[in-house]
Parts: sequence; structure tokens; C-alpha cells
Amino acid sequence: MKLWGGRFTKQTDALAFAFNESLSFDQRLYRQDIAGSMAHVRMLAKQGILTEDERDQILAGLTGIRDDLAAGTLTFDPQYEDIHSCVEANLIERIGDVGKKLHTGRSRNDQVALDMKLYIRAEIEDISTRLTELREVLADLMEEHRETYMPGFTHLQKAQPTTLAHHLGAYYEMFGRDLSRLADTARRLNECPLGAGALAGTTYPLDRDYTAQLLGFDAATANSMDSVSDRDYLLEFLSDLSIIMMHLSRFSEEIILWNSNEYQFIELDDAYSTGSSIMPQKKNPDIAELVRGKTGRVYGHLMQLLVTMKGLPLAYNKDMQEDKEGAFDAIDTVKPSLTLFTGMLATCRFRKDVMAKSAMNGFTNATDAADYLVNRGVPFRDAHGIIGQLVLTCIERGCSLEELPLAEYKAICPVFEEDIYEAISLETCVKKRMTKGAPGAMMQAGN
Ligand code: ARG
Repeated sequence: MKLWGGRFTKQTDALAFAFNESLSFDQRLYRQDIAGSMAHVRMLAKQGILTEDERDQILAGLTGIRDDLAAGTLTFDPQYEDIHSCVEANLIERIGDVGKKLHTGRSRNDQVALDMKLYIRAEIEDISTRLTELREVLADLMEEHRETYMPGFTHLQKAQPTTLAHHLGAYYEMFGRDLSRLADTARRLNECPLGAGALAGTTYPLDRDYTAQLLGFDAATANSMDSVSDRDYLLEFLSDLSIIMMHLSRFSEEIILWNSNEYQFIELDDAYSTGSSIMPQKKNPDIAELVRGKTGRVYGHLMQLLVTMKGLPLAYNKDMQEDKEGAFDAIDTVKPSLTLFTGMLATCRFRKDVMAKSAMNGFTNATDAADYLVNRGVPFRDAHGIIGQLVLTCIERGCSLEELPLAEYKAICPVFEEDIYEAISLETCVKKRMTKGAPGAMMQAGN
């Protein structure tokens, strides 16, 4: 059964049908589609457009369809163009002519707009839960590693010492902002398009606020043309997902570096590593690499929808059917990425000794050595030059600043005393960084 056979005298060309259909992917929306229909029918009865008996027959039919689809006893018949036709046709098959009243005062345009909003709203909740789980793992690790020293980098060169808690804390913040971005998107999308009809509303006395309320929306959308044309919430959602992936990808890159032979800061658990078919010694960070790799895929879906939408006149155009597969794939990419990343992080072993040793090499305490002089009255710029000279001496001698004899210090600047060694010890360098957000402040309980 087609929803629109009346004015046609020919069958659709088979290739055209296949090109046009969306059931193969929008069948994912069946729960949302049926929930929307149920709310619509309740509203129609409340408004006296359907009788209570008609309402109850339709609701029973829709419930049956939903349960049968969930149980797998009803399958999506590929003769139907999309999920909307599929459900409606099945309803008519089940309950007879009364089923034909379901579509009163409604169009597939407002229907699909509703279905996607409901779907994305639920997925935002799911993704937020996964993000929260990742943040919980991060919070536990931060607690455990308040005093785990490591080098902080700029330009991937050792810069200043910090702690693992501090480094992980940076990601904790990023994922926190990701959560709040998702919450913003959910809040903004939470207006119900149902009742907008094809584009210009309808002559039936619909109570759109009632439908909105039944479906858990804050309000009904204000403009019916906007209701069926709006995909900006999806763009927002895809950009939220892109940013989540960007954060995961940067973190993955660090995991890959830290797990490398050169760094050896961490060791990934066997459960989250893979081997090589030729090199028996290998244990590869494939999960992190794939998360990094799949990031491009999610960016691609954002880009695709931006381009799809950019030239569309109001209101609905079939181009907009292209909003779905990319969004679904982005969701299917982000969810396992988050969950696997969380598992990988929770099970990896941090090699504190290697990290601390690395923090001591590479002159990460040079800034603190300069600050030592500043605290004794030397202007910072001069102190910077003096320490630069001392670093050069160390490089020539193949030693660290801690190992350089006091005489060498004094030869360049007489202000140095024995307490320089205490001032540039790894612990001092970190613990004295007490500004808000710095690693020393994080060592204090409660930070
Ligand atoms: N499958 C369509 C979509 O995803 C549903 C809306 C169809 N509306 C129409 N006027 N043909 O966008």
C-alpha cells in the first residue's frame, strides 16, 4: 500500500523506488514514530476529531505493532517507502478502516521532524551517561594519582613538571563541557513540531500544546514552516559529537604516545590491545588508534549535513532525508568509542617510576630555577638568561640542573646558594604551583 497512489497512473520505477526509500534506515525510528502517533491520536480524541472508541482501537493497534516489531514477529516489509507508511499500512491491515484516520491533521513532514527529535533526545541521554562514566573513571584516577609526577609538554617538548591528576584533569574538564553542550542541544531541540502538518498547519482544531506535553516537550514549536524545515538541532548535535570525538582523539593520541616504547608511561591491558600477525613482540594500541581514526568519520557527517542544508528553500525538501544515515552512523561511532575508551583507560597501568624519571629529565625545572633568582631580586628576564646559560653548561657536561655543582651556579650568578637544589626538586616544582587550576593546588584534598 502506498500513501499517495491516487493521482498516479503508473507504478514507480523500481530503481527510483530504491533510490527514494528510507525504510532501510529509518526503521530505527519505529518506537519514536509509534509514540508520536499515539500522542497524536490521544490529542485528536481530546479535541473531538476522533471518538474515544476510534482512539482506543488505534492505540491498541499501534501497541501491537510496536510489540511485534520489538519481538521480531513483525518485520519491516521492504515494499514500504518509509517507517511512516510501514506503520500506517500495518495499522490498517490490523484494525481496518478506522486505521485510516490516524493521519488526520498530520503530514510525514512534521512526523519525521518529530521522530528524529525524539530519537536524538534519547541518544543525547545515552551519550551523556557514557560521558559521565568516563568522567567517573577520570575522577578516580585523579584521586589515585594526585602525587604521580610526570612532565607537562608544550610543542611536545618537556616544559614543566606536573602530575598525572593534573593532566587527566584537563580531559575531565573537556568532557564536562561536552556534557553541557549536549544538555544545551537537548534543551534547545525540546520543542514539538507535531501539528505543523506539511508546512502550514491544518484546519483541524489541533491542540499542539497537549501533544507536546504528552511527548515530554517544553512547548510546541512557534512556526509551522520552521518546524518541518529545522535541522539545525541535528547540526548542533553532530558538532557536539565531533567535539567529543576531537577530545577523545587527542586523548587517544596521548595514550598511543605514552604506550610507545619511547615513552613507556603506561601499559595497556591485554583486553584492549591487539597483536601483530608477523611481529610476535607487538602489542598495539588499536582501540586508541581507531577512536582517533573514526573521528574523521564523525566530522564528515557534520560536514555532509551542513552542505546538504545550505541551499534548501523552505520548507521540506527530500534532500532532508539525507539527515539520517550520517546522524545514525555518528551515534554508532561515538557510543562504542566512549565506552571502549573508558574501559581502556580504567584498565591501563600507569608506570609512575618512568613518568617521574621523565619529569626530572629535560630541564623541566628551568622555570623554577629562574623563579628562584627572581625571588632573590633578579629581574625575570635576566634570570631567564642566566638559567639558559646554566642549561647550556649542563648539556655540555651531560648532567641535569640538580646535578650541577653549586660552584658552577655561583660562577654564573653569585646569588645562588645551597637551597637552589631544594627549590628545583621535582616535588617543590609541582607542590609550589598553587595557583587555582595548577597541579600543586590539586594536591590539596578537595581540589
Ligand atoms: N523519509 C522522509 C524523510 O526522511 C520522510 C518525510 C517524507 N515527506 C515527504 N513529503 N515525502 O525525510
